[in-house]
Amino acid sequence: MQRNNKKPALITGSTSGIGLSIAHSLARSGHPIMLHGLVDRAEGERLQREFSETYAIDSGFSNADIASESGCQELAADTREALGNPGVLVNNAGIQHTAASHEFPSDAWQKIISVNLSAAFYLAREVLPDMRAAGWGRVVNISSVHGLVASAEKAAYCAAKHGLIGLTKVMALENADCGVTANAVCPGWVETPLIQPQIEAIAREEGIDLDRARAQLVGAKQPMPRTTRPEAIGELVVYLCGEFAETITGASLPVDGGWTAQ
Ligand SMILES: NC(=O)c1ccc[n+]([C@@H]2O[C@H](COP(=O)([O-])OP(=O)(O)OC[C@H]3O[C@@H](n4cnc5c(N)ncnc54)[C@H](O)[C@@H]3O)[C@@H](O)[C@H]2O)c1
Repeated sequence: MQRNNKKPALITGSTSGIGLSIAHSLARSGHPIMLHGLVDRAEGERLQREFSETYAIDSGFSNADIASESGCQELAADTREALGNPGVLVNNAGIQHTAASHEFPSDAWQKIISVNLSAAFYLAREVLPDMRAAGWGRVVNISSVHGLVASAEKAAYCAAKHGLIGLTKVMALENADCGVTANAVCPGWVETPLIQPQIEAIAREEGIDLDRARAQLVGAKQPMPRTTRPEAIGELVVYLCGEFAETITGASLPVDGGWTAQ
C-alpha cells in the first residue's frame, strides 16, 4: 500500500498522548507506521486498522513491554516483520513517579531508567546498522525539559531524561558520516494522561478544582501559562524527519513555553 518513498517509522508508546500524536503526524506525511504501547491486542489492532484506512499507509502494532532488553528485541523483530527495518525511530515511551530522592522506591527507579532511557539505547542499537547501511535514518528521542533542568521529586525521571540527551549527542556524532541524524525533543507541560496524577494531587492537596490545579501546575514553571498540544510535538518530529532538517543533529529542542529560558 506504500504510496511514496517514506521510510517506516517506529514510535514507541504510540497508543496514547504524545506518541499517538507523533504517529498521526508521521502517517499524514506518508510514513508507514509501527504503533506500539501497553494496550491489549484487540485495541492495538483496531488502532492499526484506523491508521491504515485513514492515511492509506502500511502499519503494524506491537505491545511488547520495553522495560527489558528482550522486550526491546521483541519490538524490533515485530517491526521488521510488519514493515521492514524502520528508517525513523522515535523513542517516546515514558513513565513517571514522584517522590523525594531519600524516599524513592528502588522498583520505580529501575523501571523509569529501563523504560525512559535503556529502551532507547537497546532499540537504537537494533535499528542503527540498517539505517547506516541505507545511508539515511532519523532517531528522535522524546526527552523533556527535565533533560535540561531539574525539579524536586523527579530523581529517576530527571536522571533518565538527562541521560537520554547524552545518548542522543553520542549517536549524532557516531552517525554524522552516513545520513543518520539523532535529536532530542524537550517538551514542557503537554496535556496527556502522564500529567493527570500531578494535576489531581494538587487539586486534592489545595482543595481546588482540576482547571485551577492545572493552571497552578503549569504556571509554577512556565512563563507562558499554557500546556503544549501533543500535535505540536508531532509536527516538530515530522520536520526533523524531513529534508530541510538534514543537518540538524545532536540538538535538544525545548518546546516549553519559556520554561528553560529562565
Ligand atoms: N506529558 C508531558 O507533559 C510530557 C512532558 C515532557 C516529556 N514527556 C515525555 O513524552 C513521552 C510521552 O509521554 P505522554 O505524556 O504521551 O505519556 P502517556 O502516558 O500518555 O503515554 C505513554 C506511552 O508509553 C507506553 N508505555 C509505558 N510504559 C511502557 C512499557 N514498559 N512498555 C511499552 N510501552 C510503554 C504506554 O503504553 C503509552 O503508549 C514520555 O517519554 C514523557 O516522559 C511528556
